Amino acid sequence: MCGIVGYVGEHNPKDVLIDGLKKLEYRGYDSSGIALRSNETVQVIKSTGRISDLEEKINNTKLINSNLGIAHTRWATHGEANEINAHPHKVGRVTLVHNGIIENATELKNTLVNEGIVFRSETDTEVAAAVINKCYDGNPIKTITEAIKLLKGSYAFGIIFENSDKLYAVRKDSPLIVGISDTEKYIASDITAIVKYTNKYVLLEDNEIAELSTKDAKFYKNGEEIEKKIEQSTTKIEDANKGSYKHFMLKEIMEEPLVLQRTLNKYINNMDKIFDVSKYEEIHIVACGSALYAGMIGKYLFEEKANIRCITECASEYRYNKVIYDRKTLVIIVSQSGETADTIAAMRKAHEEGIDTLAIVNVKTSTIAREAKHTMFIEAGPEIAVATTKAYLLQVAMFSLLALKAANIKGLENNYEEVIKEARRLPNLVKKVLNDHDKFEEVGKELLDAKDAFYIGRGIDFAICKEGSLKLKEVSYVHSDAYEAGELKHGTISLIEDNIPVFAVITNEKIKDKTESNVIEVESRQARVYTITNDGSITNHHYKYVVEKISDYFQPILVVPPLQLIGYYTANERNLDIDKPRNLAKSVTVE
Ligand code: AGP
Ligand code: GLU
Repeated sequence: MCGIVGYVGEHNPKDVLIDGLKKLEYRGYDSSGIALRSNETVQVIKSTGRISDLEEKINNTKLINSNLGIAHTRWATHGEANEINAHPHKVGRVTLVHNGIIENATELKNTLVNEGIVFRSETDTEVAAAVINKCYDGNPIKTITEAIKLLKGSYAFGIIFENSDKLYAVRKDSPLIVGISDTEKYIASDITAIVKYTNKYVLLEDNEIAELSTKDAKFYKNGEEIEKKIEQSTTKIEDANKGSYKHFMLKEIMEEPLVLQRTLNKYINNMDKIFDVSKYEEIHIVACGSALYAGMIGKYLFEEKANIRCITECASEYRYNKVIYDRKTLVIIVSQSGETADTIAAMRKAHEEGIDTLAIVNVKTSTIAREAKHTMFIEAGPEIAVATTKAYLLQVAMFSLLALKAANIKGLENNYEEVIKEARRLPNLVKKVLNDHDKFEEVGKELLDAKDAFYIGRGIDFAICKEGSLKLKEVSYVHSDAYEAGELKHGTISLIEDNIPVFAVITNEKIKDKTESNVIEVESRQARVYTITNDGSITNHHYKYVVEKISDYFQPILVVPPLQLIGYYTANERNLDIDKPRNLAKSVTVE
């Protein structure tokens, strides 16, 4: 969902801006641009397509000698993805880049047009630039303070004023951080864009304005100067690079033992850090996409192990549906980025109803991390590939630990110490599975020409199938769906025909025979069955991969990596843009 980079310092901004945009490519975009300022002159260069297209344009342009600049990758919401609509937008003495949606752009534009303003683009962003320019009285802080009172919606702005040598930034509901070093200052949508230059940052809160110059970083709210704490990021440069891997997605899958170790150590060594859900009578797990599917695993564990009633719902529905909070309810918000618009809205809805929220989140500087009543951070590190893998796995691990702690407190878990011992084995067990990556690459080769694929399972295995199916379709573009195994015969089985791949996940001891029967049903209709199981005695179908049988709390954590790798290798066989799949963004910060 678009990206912002800004720089003011002792050097020409061009290299920092382009390098930063490249680090933000994973967020998804359709066009990009930069603006450089020097002595009351602002030079704007924009391009559709990739950053490399913009870079080529810049390299063929005589650049002004500048030390102040802003840059942007756009994910169009108002107006098509073309060069005119690309950012930065310049109106009068104001040039800016924007992440978000100005919801009252149309009415503001009508007023400004009636006042004689001529707009070149179709964007809401150009309207925001015109509003700020209209408010401009020579004092940038006062100008921005007044202008944002007129804007409704979400924004992260990087702003340059023609007659100021300072860089300005302000945000509301869209992420933006300020990078600090002695003689240079930065703004960025996330730390990965600037970690190469500094790991010191300031997190802007809503409607706080940053005024940045080579030497100073000042912050304002409602026109008054405020003090802000300088944080130190733990993100490392290598986190933002692929290293020896062909794709970030493969790198991040292979990091799963490491990040699992890091996250489990953090919580198992101090179980007090795990939120106690045992006191709630009902849990709502609300998220989007893979985060929701992690929550579906959490539902089974909360109900089966801790005897707590639990519902799961996608945030885009939850935020608008009537929600019954008629008992002691906890809303668990799950989000890797912590910036997913629908998930933020669902969290805020719970807060409006006075309901407790617990966020399971990866990005510590995110809106959800800051606003949730309680948070548990997964330690996945930056996740660059659009398709989540390591973060999803850690979200599942969080639910395992939450359910285990609650079951123990409620006296429902008699093998608590045994289960904790098994948790400590997980990183090595996952590593063992990942070492079989060539077995999953073989499956990827077999799916090269697949048009459809089905994933079937029962209970917690069905929740695993939801994620397996999403991983395949979002990176390989093979259509697939996950079904409750018992549901197939109620319609979908009509789609089963010769050689259609059907993935069966069978780990649920209590009902494995039932799923096995469903497998035989599809196999008798010539489906090609791939079974992922923890039971070696399961009949051998076209393909079977057996993981070690461990506690129910953690079994999904061994079953998911094979499905992630099958999705990856299928896409790799098809030579697709795996880290940046078409139409997708890493964080969906708009509705
Ligand atoms: C997962 O591979 C997808 N990229 C997508 O479903 C993602 O999980 C979803 O958009 C939620 O994102 P979040 O965890 O950052 O809120
Ligand atoms: N709403 C703005 C536009 O459509 C910004 C979109 C974005 O966040 O990239 O240009």
